[in-house]
Amino acid sequence: MGIRGLISLVFLISGFIEFDVVYSYTRPPPRNTVFTPQSDDDSSAQQVHIYQVGQDGMGISWITQSSTPATVQYGLTPSDNSNTATGVTNSYRYLLYQSGKIHNVVIGPLKSNTVYYYRLSNSPKVYSLKTAPSQFPIKFAVSGDLGQTEWTQSTLDHINKSNYDMLLLPGDLAYADCVQNLWDSFGRLVDPLASQRPWMVTQGNHEVEKIPLLHSEPFTAYNARWKMPYEESGSDSNLYYSFDVAGVHVIMLGSYTDFDRNSKQYKWLEGDLKKVKRKKSPWLVVLVHAPWYNSNTAHHGEKESIKMKASMEDLLYQARVDIIFEGHVHAYERFTRVYKNKGDKCGPIYINIGDGGNREGLATKYIDPKPDISLFREANFGHGTLEIFNATHVLWNWHKNDNDEAVVSDSIWLTNLSLETSCKV
Ligand SMILES: *[C@@H]1O[C@H](CO)[C@@H](O)[C@H](O)[C@H]1NC(C)=O
Ligand SMILES: *[C@@H]1O[C@H](CO)[C@@H](O)[C@H](O)[C@H]1NC(C)=O
Ligand SMILES: *[C@@H]1O[C@H](CO)[C@@H](O)[C@H](O)[C@H]1NC(C)=O
Ligand SMILES: [Fe+2]
Repeated sequence: MGIRGLISLVFLISGFIEFDVVYSYTRPPPRNTVFTPQSDDDSSAQQVHIYQVGQDGMGISWITQSSTPATVQYGLTPSDNSNTATGVTNSYRYLLYQSGKIHNVVIGPLKSNTVYYYRLSNSPKVYSLKTAPSQFPIKFAVSGDLGQTEWTQSTLDHINKSNYDMLLLPGDLAYADCVQNLWDSFGRLVDPLASQRPWMVTQGNHEVEKIPLLHSEPFTAYNARWKMPYEESGSDSNLYYSFDVAGVHVIMLGSYTDFDRNSKQYKWLEGDLKKVKRKKSPWLVVLVHAPWYNSNTAHHGEKESIKMKASMEDLLYQARVDIIFEGHVHAYERFTRVYKNKGDKCGPIYINIGDGGNREGLATKYIDPKPDISLFREANFGHGTLEIFNATHVLWNWHKNDNDEAVVSDSIWLTNLSLETSCKV
């Protein structure tokens, strides 16, 4: 083990201390982290993932070890390279680790719901992607706290079979916890899926990666590697943003940056919600990492959950948000429509979906008795699909990794809040 390995080990251990002992609870045996190795060809593009930018753009992010141009050639057939777009390259340092060249290029304008083929830098490999539809129906896959274990692989296999249009991830991606080459390994693990469909993510506590005295800047790797389209929504931070897709307005919040009523995030959220036109976007969906509602003993009562909820719950309620996806707790739980801890027919439905499969295992201890507002809870790995058929009907399904993708373990139809005439905004 070289000096880097030794340092990695020290921070791996400190990562465990920081993230696991503080919020200690008994978890079942997790599966180990599976390190996804780099291909033999050192010059090739790796860790490809794509993200929607505006109505008809697609951001493409990839990493190379050596300097190559940040260019993408793309077209409607595998041999069509008539369109070229160029972008930017960045890299970062973290202790002794020096990242590869991280390229970000936005291609477009693209047609919606269409397969495109693309090539990166000077590399001959042809990738393909499908843009999201511009109208209903649209199908999202949702999974948080993903990590990179055999459970993660199982979750990804299921998501791949779900025929989804876009992935929504409510925080905690790689579980690198300061060991930077685990970010690279995670990028390679998700590449087969994330290079084909837009992956829209927000961050969790495992993305913070601050080390007292040694690395004071938070989210260094996350911001460099998972740039999201925040400028397009008037946000000044990669940690919170929103976007529109097929009649859905999706808002990504940041649990580990300021959220009080004087914060930039709060002001941005207030302004963003004011701009939403419910005729154009009948569905309003929010993602946040630390759960505002959960009845698991894990992470219960953490300040990010309690204080952020106290600050922002009114805003989201008054805007008639339909669904709020949460992560952090490694289990699945679905609530009824709630507001201020009580059932409320005009409130959002909260779904805790932190069950992607990370190395820490499941959170199996629940508060008893089950609160009435919690309708379904189970500690198992899996993912959900949110299928939006039209302006009034949505189908939510939760799938467990133990079953085939076709088996549904929890299912609910939602109708939009306008059908409740007394909820009119
Ligand atoms: C996804 O599923 C398709 C078949 O539906 C298969 O050909 C492909 O290899 C799968 N990809 C991954 C990354 O599992
Ligand atoms: C919306 O979709 C649901 C489910 O497919 C269907 O029952 C309903 O008739 C649709 N409504 C309209 C207005 O098309
Ligand atoms: C619900 O859907 C209807 C029909 O598209 C729309 O007019 C209304 O604004 C929506 N209401 C809310 C609160 O989303
Ligand atoms: Fe978390």
